[in-house]
Amino acid sequence: MSSFKIELKKYELPPLPYKLNALEPYISEQIMDVHYNGHHKGYVNGANATIEKVEKIIKGEVTGYDLQGVVRNLTFNINGHKLHTIFWNNMGPVGSKGGGTPGGALADLINKQYGSFEKFKTIWAETMKSLPGAGWTVLYYDKESGRLVPITVENHFMNHIVELPVILIVDEFEHAYYLQYKNNRNAYLDAWWNVVNWEEADRRLQKYL
Ligand SMILES: [Fe+2]
Repeated sequence: MSSFKIELKKYELPPLPYKLNALEPYISEQIMDVHYNGHHKGYVNGANATIEKVEKIIKGEVTGYDLQGVVRNLTFNINGHKLHTIFWNNMGPVGSKGGGTPGGALADLINKQYGSFEKFKTIWAETMKSLPGAGWTVLYYDKESGRLVPITVENHFMNHIVELPVILIVDEFEHAYYLQYKNNRNAYLDAWWNVVNWEEADRRLQKYL
């Protein structure tokens, strides 16, 4: 036996870093409740249930399974869980951690790469609004070029997203805004600026510098 600690664990719903109504009026308590207690919890339960199914397949306890479907389900739920965990921490209560402008290394990098925060804001807003259908807009730090890279991700079927040095992430699934903004996704994306936790984004960047 090696001395490595090998342990198989279940996924768990992490605590929300603020109250459900902390992002009002920009993101309603009702949305946060459905989003966190409904959707995020659903991804956690779905990931655990799918792993259980995979383990039954390994043991030969399930026959006639659709492995492609099972793997797709596993990816969807694991990603859903991990991306939401980053998303919650990327936002903060209005008037304390949410809104304003970035500071620290992130401000320096944005100024160097984009010229000004206002220019970055324009590019990022256009990127968010360009996503077709449901998914995420992700800003990650590319160590090789030393630059921030904005990408749009349809749905979440790519496990590697969560392994990127993610600095900012925005949930653009309908469940993130529909109860409050109906089909006006752009209004939700405009409101999102008021709850961005720049301190956390800067902390994330500094981990990778
Ligand atoms: Fe979501």
